[in-house]
Amino acid sequence: MALTSRRTHRLLIFLSKPLLAALFVTLILRWTITPSNPRKPHNPYPHLSKALIIASTTSSNLTWLDPALRDSHWTPYVYTTDDTTAELTVPINKGNEAMVYLTWIIDHYDTLSDVMFFHHDHNQAWHQMFSSGYELKHLNPETVLRDGYISPRCLPGCENIITLSGDVAPLSDLKSASRDVLISSVLHEFWLDEEGKKQKLPEKIAAPCCAQFAVSKQRVRRRSRAEWEALRSWLIKTNVSSRESGRVLEYTWHLWFGMEDEL
Ligand SMILES: *[C@@H]1O[C@H](CO)[C@@H](O)[C@H](O)[C@H]1NC(C)=O
Ligand SMILES: *[C@@H]1O[C@H](CO)[C@@H](O)[C@H](O)[C@H]1NC(C)=O
Repeated sequence: MALTSRRTHRLLIFLSKPLLAALFVTLILRWTITPSNPRKPHNPYPHLSKALIIASTTSSNLTWLDPALRDSHWTPYVYTTDDTTAELTVPINKGNEAMVYLTWIIDHYDTLSDVMFFHHDHNQAWHQMFSSGYELKHLNPETVLRDGYISPRCLPGCENIITLSGDVAPLSDLKSASRDVLISSVLHEFWLDEEGKKQKLPEKIAAPCCAQFAVSKQRVRRRSRAEWEALRSWLIKTNVSSRESGRVLEYTWHLWFGMEDEL
């Protein structure tokens, strides 16, 4: 009896050593790895590549972004528009977010992600129902693939409905043009259908406002790289203020991506 229990005891000690060692190693690993590299949530769409393109400036507060990226599955491209030495920047700091978005499209045209989310730099804006971090976590890429273009949900009343008279002016003479003429002129010049023919201008356009939206690869490829470049060249050359030229794109992104005139 005594002999058996001593044997059991020795066996237990013998077995417990590797177990204790394993436990120790596990704890050490958890302790060293967890704080800097917490586990990401499960990725429900591992087959889809997703690019997040952020337009920021040196004065942006991006503290919301790191936790948002940890909690989601986006590949970030953070542009700094007012720092020519930044890793990602724009040819010229004009046209607000539009210059960033067009630059990303042009530079990545041959290797576009399945889904792209073009986003401004702040975590909460007046036109947003949810924080940017929440949007990144909850935007369903399958919905973007299905619909082609979506604007994250907007608060009631922030759609822009703009009536276009159809009046256009030469691109070199838009500096003091009204919003209607500005938008009409840019569309008239660059808005082509899939055969490369100029499209008839809509009478009214409407979309949820502001410079954030998600699009599918297919929607970006509706237009050739040369067409995207032509639009960016206008933005580079125009002497319409950044505020105004950036807005032209804000009002019309859905059209360039082939959506209905009024969303
Ligand atoms: C940046 O934003 C965070 C909240 O997201 C805030 O706590 C922090 O004070 C802000 N930093 C600056 C410099 O404004
Ligand atoms: C800039 O504006 C002036 C008039 O203010 C005009 O003569 C000139 O052609 C414009 N340049 C471009 C590139 O639009």
